[in-house]
Amino acid sequence: MYTQAMDLMAKEGQGEAPQLRSAEELALQQRFDARIDAGEFIEAKDWLPENYRKTLLRQISQHAHSEIVGMLPEGNWITRAPTLKRKAILLAKVQDEGGHGLYLYAAAETLGSSRDQMLEALHGGKAKYSSIFNYPTLSWADVGVIGCLVDGAAIMNQVPICRCSYAPYARAMVRICREESFHQRQGFDSLLVMMQQGTRAQQDMVQDAVNRWWWPTLMMFGPPDDQSPNSAQSMRWGIKRISNDELRQKFVDAAVEQAKVLGVSLPDPELRWNEARQHYDFGAIDWSEFWRVVGGDGPCNRERLSARVKAWEDGAWVRDAALAHAARQTERARLQA
Ligand SMILES: [Fe+2]
Ligand SMILES: [Fe+2]
Repeated sequence: MYTQAMDLMAKEGQGEAPQLRSAEELALQQRFDARIDAGEFIEAKDWLPENYRKTLLRQISQHAHSEIVGMLPEGNWITRAPTLKRKAILLAKVQDEGGHGLYLYAAAETLGSSRDQMLEALHGGKAKYSSIFNYPTLSWADVGVIGCLVDGAAIMNQVPICRCSYAPYARAMVRICREESFHQRQGFDSLLVMMQQGTRAQQDMVQDAVNRWWWPTLMMFGPPDDQSPNSAQSMRWGIKRISNDELRQKFVDAAVEQAKVLGVSLPDPELRWNEARQHYDFGAIDWSEFWRVVGGDGPCNRERLSARVKAWEDGAWVRDAALAHAARQTERARLQA
C-alpha cells in the first residue's frame, strides 16, 4: 500500500546540504549532482551523499512498514468476506501487501540498515508508517473503499516513484504499482456490485464507509506544499517527482468521476468543478487530525503496533529454527570440505 509524503518526519538538519570534508568528496558530490541532473539512476554500489542515503532509508523503510501494517485493517475481514470469490481476492491482496513490504525492506537494506534494525524501530514506536492504517475497518464496505480510495491514492503517489533516482527503490516500485492497480480495481468492483445490485442497507454501508475514509485518504498525500519543507530537497534529488498538492489534486479529479459511476456522494460540500482551473475545487483538510494521528493518537495506533509486536514475538521460534538449521548446514559443509 503506501506512504504519505514520506518527507514528513525528517529529523532536523537532514534536508541541509552535506558538510564536504575533502577535495575528493567534493568531486564525488559534483559527479553525483551531475548524474542526478542528467536523470541517471543511482545504484547501491555508487557513492551517495549521506543525507541522500538517510532520506531514502527513512522513506523506504517507512514505506515498507506501511505495507506491512496495511495488512492489518483488511486482514481483519478475511474470515468474514461475504463470498468465496471476495475471500480469494482479499487474501491475494493482503498477501501482495506483505510482498510489497518485503521488496521494500530489501531495497532499504541496500542503504546500510538491517531488517532487524528497521523492525526494532517500528516495534519501538520510533519509525512511522502511513497514518491511514490507524483508522478502523467497521464494515465489509470498508474493504472496498480501502481498495478504491486508499489504494487509488497509493497509485497516484507511487507511480512517480518508479522514476525515483535510486534504482533499487524504483525497480521495486514497478512491480508494486502493477499490483496496486489490481487492488484499486477489485475495490471499485466490490463497491459497484454493492451499489448496483445490493440492498438499500448495503448501499448505505458503502456511503458510510466513503464518508469516513474520504478525508483521511486526502491526507495521505502529506501536508500542503508550503508546509512541506523537505519536499524541495527530495525533488532536487529526484526522489520525489510531483508535489503533494499536485498529486492530491490529480487524485480528487479522478475520484470524483469514479464516485459518479458508483453513485456515491463525497462528503465535501465545497467539491465542485472549476472551469478556469480545469480541476475540482475541494474543501479545507483538517490538518490537526492528521498531526494527531501521525503523533500516535489515532483511533487504532496502539492496536496496530501491538498486533505487529505480537506477530514478531509469536514468530520467534520460526526465526530461531531457521538460524539453527542454517548453522547446522554450514557446519556440515565445513566438515565435508
Ligand atoms: Fe502495497
Ligand atoms: Fe495495495
